[in-house]
Amino acid sequence: MGIRFIGHKQKLVSEIVSVIDSTVGQSTRIGDLFTGTGSVAAGLKQSGHSVVANDLLTHCCLSARAQLCNPPQPAFEMLLEEAPEVSEVSNQFIQRSGYTQTLSYLNQVEGIPGFVYSTYSPGGTADREEPRQYFTNENAKQIDAIRQRVHQWHNDGIISDDEHALLIYDLIQATNEVANTAGTYGAFLKSWYERAKESLELTPSEIPDGPLDHKIFQQDANKLATDLSVPAVYLDPPYTKRQYASYYHLPETISQKTNPSVSGKTGLPDWKPKSSDYCHKRRAGGKLDGLLSNLDTEYVFLSYSDEGHITPDELNNILTNHGSVELHTFDHQRYKSNTEAKSGDLTEALYVVELA
Ligand SMILES: C[S@@+](CC[C@H](N)C(=O)[O-])C[C@H]1O[C@@H](n2cnc3c(N)ncnc32)[C@H](O)[C@@H]1O
Repeated sequence: MGIRFIGHKQKLVSEIVSVIDSTVGQSTRIGDLFTGTGSVAAGLKQSGHSVVANDLLTHCCLSARAQLCNPPQPAFEMLLEEAPEVSEVSNQFIQRSGYTQTLSYLNQVEGIPGFVYSTYSPGGTADREEPRQYFTNENAKQIDAIRQRVHQWHNDGIISDDEHALLIYDLIQATNEVANTAGTYGAFLKSWYERAKESLELTPSEIPDGPLDHKIFQQDANKLATDLSVPAVYLDPPYTKRQYASYYHLPETISQKTNPSVSGKTGLPDWKPKSSDYCHKRRAGGKLDGLLSNLDTEYVFLSYSDEGHITPDELNNILTNHGSVELHTFDHQRYKSNTEAKSGDLTEALYVVELA
C-alpha cells in the first residue's frame, strides 16, 4: 500500500490557504508549527507568504526545507563542478537541469549492504526467527547507497543545506513508494505487496515557485512559541494516540546521518525522546491551551478533527478563552461555511481565532 502520513492536509491545502489569505492578505509571515509533510507550508509559499516551519521530527523539517527553500529547478552548481562523475551520466529526465542530472546519477549508484539492508530487509535479517521485510534486498541496498552518498556530499560541503534536504526528501518519497507496509512504518507485511517488488527510483519533486526567505525549526511547538512573533500561525497538531516518531521511524532514520540502535520484531528505534504530548488524551487540551498562551500573533488557524482527543466542546472552551472564534468545515473536497455545516457531516475543521 505504500506510506500515508496520518493527518496530512494535501487534499485541503487550497481551502486552508484561501481562508488564511482572505483573513490576513497575501505576502505575510506565517508560522506552520506542526508542518508534517510540509504540504500547507508549500501552499503558503506558492501564495506568496514567508513561512516559519517547525516540527519535532527531522524528516518533517527536511520536507519543509526541501519545498520552501529551493527554487523549482535547483542548480546543484557546486556538486556538478566538484563531482565530475555526476555530470557525466546521461540525464534520464525530459526536463534538463542540475537537479535532474543529480537524480539521474543517484538512480544509477550501485547498492551497498548498509544499515537499512542489515536491519530491514530479509537478506540482512535472515538469522532472525521472523526476518524483517520492509524492503526487498535490492531496494534496501539502493536506499543505503543513496542515503550515504547524499549525507557524504553534505558533509563535504558540496551540496547546500537546502539541496541536501531536497535529495533526502526525494529519497524518502521513493522509499515510501516501495515500502512493504500497510500504510505506516509501524509494521511490515508478511507477504510482498506488488509495488514493493518494483525498483526504487528517485523522481523530481514539484517545488512550488514563491519567496525563498523561510525559516525552519525543530522544536516542541510550545517552546518555539515563546520566541516567535509573526502576524499569523497555522496549527495542525496530532489528534490521536498515534505517535509520529514511532509510525514514521524509517524516514526519520534515513534523514539522520547516524544509525540508531533498534529492537523488537519491527526494528523500532527509541522514539520516546521525540514523543508528543498532543498524542495523550489527558494532556492534549492543556498543551494546546499552553501553546495559545505562549503565542505572540494576531491570528491562529487551527486544523482539528471532530474525532480527536480534544472534544469539540472542550476545544471551543479553550479557543474562546483566547479570543473570538470562527469555524470553517471541510468535507473531503467540498467546502462549507459554518452556517451550512450539518452535524455528523463534518470531517475536518479549521478554526480561525483572532487573539484577544
Ligand atoms: C497532523 S500532522 C501535521 C500534518 C501537516 N499539516 C501536513 O499536511 O502534512 C502533526 C505533526 O505534528 C508533529 N508534532 C507532534 N507534536 C509536536 C510538538 N509538540 N511540536 C512540534 N511538532 C509536533 C508531528 O511530528 C507531525 O508531523
